[in-house]
Amino acid sequence: MKLLLENIKELVQVEDDPVLFRSGKQMAKLNTIKDAFLIIRDEVIQDFGTMSHLKDVYRDDDFLIEIDCRDRLVYPSYCDSHTHLVFPAPREKEFVDRVRGLSYEEIARRGGGILNSSKILQKTSDEELYYDAMSRVMEIIKTGTGAVEIKSGYGLSTKEEIRMLKIIRWIKETAPVCIRSTFLGAHAIPAEYKNNPSGYVDVIINEMIPQVAAEELADFIDVFCDKGFFSVEDTERILMAGIKYGLRPKIHANELGLTGGVQVGVKYHALSVDHLEHMGVNEIECLKDTETMPTVLPGAAFFLGMRLSPVREMIEAGLPVALASDYNPGSSPSGNMNFISSLGCINYKMMPEEVINATTINSAYAMGISDRLGSIARGKIANLFITSEVPGIEYLPYSFGSNLVETVILNGEVQEH
Ligand code: NIG
Ligand code: FE
Repeated sequence: MKLLLENIKELVQVEDDPVLFRSGKQMAKLNTIKDAFLIIRDEVIQDFGTMSHLKDVYRDDDFLIEIDCRDRLVYPSYCDSHTHLVFPAPREKEFVDRVRGLSYEEIARRGGGILNSSKILQKTSDEELYYDAMSRVMEIIKTGTGAVEIKSGYGLSTKEEIRMLKIIRWIKETAPVCIRSTFLGAHAIPAEYKNNPSGYVDVIINEMIPQVAAEELADFIDVFCDKGFFSVEDTERILMAGIKYGLRPKIHANELGLTGGVQVGVKYHALSVDHLEHMGVNEIECLKDTETMPTVLPGAAFFLGMRLSPVREMIEAGLPVALASDYNPGSSPSGNMNFISSLGCINYKMMPEEVINATTINSAYAMGISDRLGSIARGKIANLFITSEVPGIEYLPYSFGSNLVETVILNGEVQEH
């Protein structure tokens, strides 16, 4: 199987020498090739370059499929490194309550929020959870996502957490995108442990983690380390137990306060610390020169009207930044990475080049796949999208709310609409 994309107006995020992520000033750098070609063989990117080079080198090659990309841009697929897209039902009633003035935390205290989703999950069949989640996966594929991390965390009991992870595995086996799975037993304290939160932490450590590991159900382990959820001490206990079983941390940190989440993430070599609405000098300092990707979730801050993560300060301090959707029913009911890109520019004052790095190579790093996805490089998996006719890269974040993704290619195959 050999596929040729030719006359590409601009081939975006090209790497001759692949990097694992871009940080600081490097984030404003974006390699592109104008008037380009790209060849896909089987599932991988075989070659790319300028059209004149194509004519010199590949004159006699016959390609099974040729796509004329005149006036169009070609991007590596977005990598969405933080979602909760397996959930039993949307929570639009809570949305209306918030419009009326209740806060997200207030709604959670009244039995809404994560605990509400958890209650409904128990009554939802495997098939229903799977098909609903798959339709969300198919929806985000249309807006350019080619890799997605999915968390458990609405189970909140050993049986239900394992069931959620098995549904994520089912999606992994059947969806055309790359899926990473994260065990998030520590998403909220279940009602029956309200007065004994450390009892629930014991269940996570003694029952859930060993079973998750024995059945190889997760790539990562997550904890919602924040005010009113899991303390730094709880988080340390859970992460240590997870690491013992080979589960690398990726944690929810500093959404609700300066709670020490960032520091604990860095201490346990988390692959990413996510949310980061509350960041002080110490948090920024502590992330410097580490293997932990600061990940910002603009959809959640937008939807909940939260304070914004100081992305400019982080980049000026030399840190890398990734952006992800946080697709979930309570705080970000959308997995549209084009919209996330617009929010990156509009709300966080990121340049279009920075946003592209944050949603491709850096977010690929944040889900442990930047060696095979997240950029246009020889040998990488051919997950990419072709835009409709657009003037240039700025046009995508500029056109918030539009979907300018015209053709999606996953594992070297053109996807049907
Ligand atoms: O990332 N912060 C914690 N968890 C999710 C929200 C999940 C929900 O409300 O259902 C988040 O925003
Ligand atoms: Fe989240």
